[in-house]
Amino acid sequence: MTLRAVVRGVGHYLPERVVPNSEFETRLDTSDEWIRTRTGIERRHFAADGETTSDLGTVAAKAALADAGMTADQIDAIVLATSTPDYTFPSVATMVQAKLGMAGGFAYDVQAVCAGFIFALANANAMILSGQAKRVLVIGAETFSRILDRDDRGTCVLFGDGAGALVLDAEEGNGTTDDRGILSSDLHSDGQLRDILYVDGGPSTTGTVGHLRMQGNAVFRHAVEKLAATAHTALEKAGLGSGDVDWIVPHQANLRIIAATAQRMQVPMERVVVTVSDHGNTSAASIPLALSVGKARGQIKTGDLIVTEAIGGGLAWGSVVLRW
Ligand code: UT7
Repeated sequence: MTLRAVVRGVGHYLPERVVPNSEFETRLDTSDEWIRTRTGIERRHFAADGETTSDLGTVAAKAALADAGMTADQIDAIVLATSTPDYTFPSVATMVQAKLGMAGGFAYDVQAVCAGFIFALANANAMILSGQAKRVLVIGAETFSRILDRDDRGTCVLFGDGAGALVLDAEEGNGTTDDRGILSSDLHSDGQLRDILYVDGGPSTTGTVGHLRMQGNAVFRHAVEKLAATAHTALEKAGLGSGDVDWIVPHQANLRIIAATAQRMQVPMERVVVTVSDHGNTSAASIPLALSVGKARGQIKTGDLIVTEAIGGGLAWGSVVLRW
């Protein structure tokens, strides 16, 4: 028998306020047409004043627990991916733990920017396989609207706020690729590439939060090259290939990156879950949001083979293969 981390429930939350592309046209030299054609983004959600990353993450976690038919006290651990914490510390995960009324267990944050949810999933899987925890709530939650330079048209039109969550549960499989649950993961980072995507502030440098800075076309080139490669590697590690994939659930940064990656993987766009048009880039929240929306739309079904992939600041990138 082989232990597997199986998805029991999924949920998401998007802040109420929808910001259409047209809202940027009034203040910046940009257009709805440019944003749509260069990125695929039509709108995004921005958190309300006072609404924090832990608020978003808590609502998504409650939805995932309800979907799993579980209560918070049945959870052993929370792993939360974010780069936009409520505070420098404590972790957002412990704040969610408190908001869920969870008296036991342990909770911590993972920070790998837009690839954060992939790293959190791999980490939660390792905890389950090692026996450290049986049931893990894995959350991606972000309020990137708080770190955007609203005068920089090259970045501020791209990002949005949101949260998504999965409940993972240990289950005995038979060790084959037919097992439900996480089948493989593949993680990378290259700190030499920090200057193409970073935030220009922090507690140990400026003592401020800072703003997001990005050389978009350099990140674009790395994304197209690295995402298909890591997805292939993760599939290979699982003993699978592109032909076995039911759904690619990619990080939602840019429709052109999503399409180029699918093309390199020889997977048709009909087999790709796309939410970037409605959410923009929600960083670590984008994959669990897409998983939750993909399930709600009736795209993702029990038994489907899913490959998720993401890249972001660091650079950090990776991929997870799982059977839903
Ligand atoms: O999630 C983390 C990972 N992040 C990503 O994956 C993002 C990756 N990068 C991208 O998605 C794309 O590179 C962008 C959408 C950011 C930019 O698209 P691009 O096709 O790479 O455009 P570019 O940066 O090469 O800029 C082309 C032109 C420039 O004008 P000039 O120099 O040709 O006159 C920009 O100044 O487009 C201009 N531009 C804009 N024009 C209108 C940049 N932003 C805007 C804008 N509206 N919002």
